[in-house]
Amino acid sequence: MADLTTKLLGFTLSNPLMPAAGPPVRDAVAVQACIDAGVGAVVTKTISTTAADVPRPNMADLKNYFLNTELWSELPPEQWIEHEYPKIRAAADAAGVPVIISMGYTAEQIAELAPKIKPFADAVELSTHYIPDDPTPMQEAIRAAKEALDVPVMVKMSPFREPQPLALAAQEAGADAIVATNSFGPAFGIDIERGGRPLMGGKGYGWLSGPALKPIALRMVYDIAQVVDIPVIGVGGISKGTDVVEYLMAGASAVGICTAAIVRGPKIFTKIARQLNKWLDDHGYSSVAEIQGLTLKQKPPEMTEPPILVPEKCTGCNFCVLSCFYRALYLDENKKIAIHPDACYECGLCLTRCPVDALHYSY
Ligand SMILES: Cc1cc2nc3c(=O)[nH]c(=O)nc-3n(C[C@H](O)[C@H](O)[C@H](O)COP(=O)(O)O)c2cc1C
Ligand code: SF4
Ligand code: SF4
Repeated sequence: MADLTTKLLGFTLSNPLMPAAGPPVRDAVAVQACIDAGVGAVVTKTISTTAADVPRPNMADLKNYFLNTELWSELPPEQWIEHEYPKIRAAADAAGVPVIISMGYTAEQIAELAPKIKPFADAVELSTHYIPDDPTPMQEAIRAAKEALDVPVMVKMSPFREPQPLALAAQEAGADAIVATNSFGPAFGIDIERGGRPLMGGKGYGWLSGPALKPIALRMVYDIAQVVDIPVIGVGGISKGTDVVEYLMAGASAVGICTAAIVRGPKIFTKIARQLNKWLDDHGYSSVAEIQGLTLKQKPPEMTEPPILVPEKCTGCNFCVLSCFYRALYLDENKKIAIHPDACYECGLCLTRCPVDALHYSY
């Protein structure tokens, strides 16, 4: 059994998984289900000074991606403060899990909300989704939170902005951690069986999350981790243990999961923790700490020679041959992979097409 415990902002989490703000933490009942599934910490749905007027329909699952128009919590802040947070605080204390309260957006709104959420928060997360590209409003919001609270302040970035300057600006304003990322967009989806009408309510646009977001969010984590001295939390498209491995290697200290918990239910946290554990065991790592930031020490590859073939592993599936547009690969008379080395452009695609790892980099 690998050691999944994770140090974050002075807390020791039982594992690096937490729910990201969204429906899986939309109230105390939902948060309890995440705690029951063994999350390392809880993040609550973003609140603001008023309840959000969410255009509906507000969610659509398109399999490799997900669209939503959810804004922030549709529950008024008074309900959170009087009913939801006290129950969440009690449930988290019983389980020994830190509570991270998400709120937005401007300095004035944060200054109004912070004293009210103070009794319930071990840390706060500020969303920057609906404030301008200019870092000043974000910095003012961070300073407002720091002034009103004595707990760590995490700042959540959106993926449609250049991450390094914003992360540095957040750090300079006193942020204790960066969360990357929120959903991407605006994005659009069409119901072709209903005369081509937009899938989402409101303006018809939505925000994209789920597996399609992962490479964008991962790049943000990798970029941010290279320039800041504070922890980075990776969020975007995580649905299995190896996704978490990627984020940790890219420099994340912990991860958040939203869409996978919406479509597959909160038990997904238990499953992903198990998968992470097994992957670490199978690869000879004894803890999450051992893989954290590994990619930051690596250089991008340079392919200067054709791939090395391992014909005894080859099943003759033809996948690599089909997608080698340089016509360098073929199946020999025994239906095993063979190569015309002079034709190979060293594009690398075949290595990722082979389902049985029968092709390798030659360096
Ligand atoms: C339906 C829905 C509602 C969301 N609501 C919030 C929110 O209130 N505050 C926030 O910071 N992010 C919100 N998000 C963004 C998620 O927390 C997360 O950053 C994003 O979806 C990427 O992670 P995922 O691919 O695991 O969903 C929401 C996402 C979805 C799908
Ligand atoms: S590296 Fe590219 S060009 Fe070379 S064999 Fe593979 S797919 Fe073909
Ligand atoms: S993809 Fe792999 S298994 Fe399939 S033909 Fe190519 S080398 Fe063989």
